[in-house]
Amino acid sequence: MQKAALDIQNYALLDDNECNARIADAKKKLGRRCVILGHHYQRDEVFFHADLTGDSLRLSREASQSDAEYIVFCGVHFMAEVADILSKPGQVSILPDLAAGCSMADMANLSAVERCWQELESVLKPDQQLTPVTYINSAADLKAFCGRHGGIVCTSSNAKKILEWGFGQREKILFFPDQHLGRNTGYRMGIPLEKMVTWDPLQKMGGLSREQIVSADIILWKGYCSVHQVFKPEHIDRFLEIYPDTQVIAHPECSFEVCQKSPFIGSTETILKTIRDAPTNTRWLVGTELNLVNRLANEVRPEGKEVHFMSPTLCMCSTMFRTDPQHLLWVLENLVEGSVVNEIRVPNDVSTFAKLALDRMLEVA
Ligand code: 13P
Ligand code: SF4
Repeated sequence: MQKAALDIQNYALLDDNECNARIADAKKKLGRRCVILGHHYQRDEVFFHADLTGDSLRLSREASQSDAEYIVFCGVHFMAEVADILSKPGQVSILPDLAAGCSMADMANLSAVERCWQELESVLKPDQQLTPVTYINSAADLKAFCGRHGGIVCTSSNAKKILEWGFGQREKILFFPDQHLGRNTGYRMGIPLEKMVTWDPLQKMGGLSREQIVSADIILWKGYCSVHQVFKPEHIDRFLEIYPDTQVIAHPECSFEVCQKSPFIGSTETILKTIRDAPTNTRWLVGTELNLVNRLANEVRPEGKEVHFMSPTLCMCSTMFRTDPQHLLWVLENLVEGSVVNEIRVPNDVSTFAKLALDRMLEVA
């Protein structure tokens, strides 16, 4: 029988040093029964404790391949859901702070996407003409929607391959929730901007005319990431005026205009690899979350590489930041005591179809 859980209130005021020592101790006690996965946007104090780190694609692979009884996900809610969906029977996925969501994922929900699908029925035959593609930054029931309707999941590192797969199935794509990832990827595949229309879920028929829908190749959901929205093309221009020899790299969640000015575009993992592999004494302007950029800047400074945050105003992902050493310690000490707190469990009927869409992605990419 599960024991009564230790109370989070007793952890809230612990200082980080004490937490660090106790996290290390709890990890030792749990051994191979527990794996901590850490996304690149986690703050240093938490990232440091991760057994495996990566972008969304790598972490979902790690989650599907792990044999640990407990998968503690230092990331955001949809990531822990993916870990649960891909986990083996008996494995438990845990999110240290349940308030760690993703504001972009929240911009699309099942009822709005189902309404969109129905409204499109007046113009198209969606199940014959549209492949639904959801960015992994989405709730499990939207992944299940894609699974049920012949669709698929993508991440920022495999979006091009996934869109190619989608076009191989049906003539058009409905892409949600991030318009920017969809537009940036489509454009790099040679699809002109006028063939990518934006569906506004707050308007009837998405605010689109019949003709726009019929002639579109991709229908993009009007969602975005507030963190990547901060970067503007003029930030790149101003920096290049002062340091013309700078290399620019951006995450594909940045706007079209920013990505057009960035010769390098890629997932968090790709950004890290590109700069780590770059020649010494190079200067980089990076359009992605602050914790990653600061950590990378410190890592490559000894090689003479300079890494700068793209925006003059500092902005981090506040939901990724929710996971602190206090919450991590709390979940780990509970596991040591034999009690599971903050388990993320996706209902079976959702999980089955979400897994179908995720398995398609893992197979294609
Ligand atoms: P990556 O898959 O590139 O790590 O991106 C996840 C994310 O949430 C970016 O905002
Ligand atoms: Fe979501 Fe943006 Fe945070 Fe990524 S950076 S988790 S997309 S809010």
